Amino acid sequence: MSTATTSTTTPPAIETRGLVKRFGGVHALQDVSVTFPRGEITALIGDNGAGKSTLIKTLAGLHVADEGVIEVDGTVVQVTSPRVARELGIETVYQDLGLVDDLTVAENLFLSREPIRSPLLGRLLDKGRMRVRAREMLDEMGAGHRIPVDGIVRWMSGGQRQAVAICRAVAWGASVVILDEPTAALGVNESAEVHQLVRRLREQGITVILISHNFEEIMSLADQVWVMRRGKAVAHRRIADTTGPELVGLLTGATVDDRGSVAAPPVSA
Ligand SMILES: Nc1ncnc2c1ncn2[C@@H]1O[C@H](COP(=O)(O)OP(=O)(O)O)[C@@H](O)[C@H]1O
Ligand SMILES: [Mg+2]
Repeated sequence: MSTATTSTTTPPAIETRGLVKRFGGVHALQDVSVTFPRGEITALIGDNGAGKSTLIKTLAGLHVADEGVIEVDGTVVQVTSPRVARELGIETVYQDLGLVDDLTVAENLFLSREPIRSPLLGRLLDKGRMRVRAREMLDEMGAGHRIPVDGIVRWMSGGQRQAVAICRAVAWGASVVILDEPTAALGVNESAEVHQLVRRLREQGITVILISHNFEEIMSLADQVWVMRRGKAVAHRRIADTTGPELVGLLTGATVDDRGSVAAPPVSA
């Protein structure tokens, strides 16, 4: 608890309390209560089937939880659709990236995932302006030097494509960006470039939720981590207070969780 009564605590960017999601008989989420602090990178880890995708899809408005509450900046919200999530400033970059391969980088950055019906349409799609603004967006993210605005996305490397998708997510004012295994398909150098981009997001005060299976990546990038197992959020650690091996143990269940009913042996520092 806070010691000074006069101090104000910033609420987390996102907090869930008691989220439950069932698919028929499958309990994909069971009483999931997690927090994602504003301006931090939070890793979300867990074995296949642990519930990671279901959790982020619930935050992204693709699933609606059967029970429980989601708060954004301390206010209870109903994330009933992807559009509502976007209006709340939550953007998700799924593994398929959602880019249109035959369009240029600039065109992809300006692609709305919903039809634009506005008198501004003509101006928005003005190629010249679009290129200039696209260049600015990439530069703001520190990615301008390695991504040509006129390049066709199809011919770009996996790292460049990931960067375009991330830039597009933040281009329109997202304050929370969810990344689903952004480096899973990338080599070492390209992963490093994506890591740089993720750090840049944090520098800009953006809250990042990062699904990853790469413990090295988690240890070097994240500020904190939630561990999921069989639909439950079983452990939370600050990265400074944990190790890769401890996280592996928590993920597999070899290390007894914080929240389980089994008495946990003391974890030595
Ligand atoms: N649309 C769905 N219909 C039925 N079962 C689902 C659906 N989505 C996920 N599940 C089930 O929910 C559980 C959690 O899955 P998921 O959230 O995809 O885990 P993870 O992303 O951690 O691998 C799994 O048992 C999975 O089979
Ligand atoms: Mg998944």
